[in-house]
Amino acid sequence: MPTPRILLTRRWPAEVEHYLSQRYEVTVNEHDTPPDAAALKAALASYDAVCPTVTDKLTADVLAAGRGKVRILGNYGVGVSHIDLQACKRLGIVVTNTPNVLTEATAEIAIMLMLMAARRAGEGERQVRAHAWDGWAPTRMIGADVTGKTLGLVGFGRIGQATAQKAHHGFGMRILYYSRKRATPEVEALTGGRHCASLEDLLESADFVSLHCPGGAQTRHLLNAERLDRMKRSAFLINTARGEVVDEVALAHALRNRVIAGAGLDVYEHEPRVPEAFLGLDNVVLLPHLGSATLETRVAMGMRVAENLERFFAGLEPGDRVA
Ligand code: DGY
Repeated sequence: MPTPRILLTRRWPAEVEHYLSQRYEVTVNEHDTPPDAAALKAALASYDAVCPTVTDKLTADVLAAGRGKVRILGNYGVGVSHIDLQACKRLGIVVTNTPNVLTEATAEIAIMLMLMAARRAGEGERQVRAHAWDGWAPTRMIGADVTGKTLGLVGFGRIGQATAQKAHHGFGMRILYYSRKRATPEVEALTGGRHCASLEDLLESADFVSLHCPGGAQTRHLLNAERLDRMKRSAFLINTARGEVVDEVALAHALRNRVIAGAGLDVYEHEPRVPEAFLGLDNVVLLPHLGSATLETRVAMGMRVAENLERFFAGLEPGDRVA
């Protein structure tokens, strides 16, 4: 078999690029900017494997250009809502992702956002950098406790469970979760998780609501104006999942009018665009999609793609196949 030709749509950690280049004919997008639809179509029509990531929109129209050529998409990341999986199935294109290896890093960011939002860390840091801090005072920069509060998780997969464990065992939080499938008694015991029969129940009871469900059409604007209204006025919304899960216009309105106390966001519906309405609000912490951004995790994600490609090109079922 000739050496498979592989395209990485972005730069990857050097050690992974090196590893892959020892095994395949690898092309890397040296510009490291997201390829547009035309560039993606050209790639799909000329490589055996294309390795995209969250910034690459692989719609049915784009994917059709790969008919008869590209055989596998080795996605760098666990979320795949940027790829039309149904179209891939129709076209016979295999798709893999990178679960497990980014679980802890993303859960850390969820915990960090919770702490930052509750303790006004972003606002405080801005104050110090602007030389606007005039010293300690008993009544200034008052936030909210995290320890002992109730955390409600929407979605209870690997990242939701890891967040629950850290919050329950680290901060003594009471854990509620809402997901289509109830977790096993073992998982509930490990995480302290209590299943909520409805999303509304969870929203009404939680001091922090953290999103851990997949993105895509089914969860688009799951957190809309009506649901934000169900949350406690003292509650915080945390999103490390996908931007589209939240109606950003409704959230900006809720934050401005103190329908909820605050939010911590790592993801946005139209990245890298962050709604202008958030930028002027002090009660929202805004991060630039850092969930998996540690060196160890980014290397592990790349090696996970490599494992999937190795199995695929050896004629075996790749471990992380999602289509
Ligand atoms: C993921 O893996 O889905 C992260 O959000 C990075 O893309």
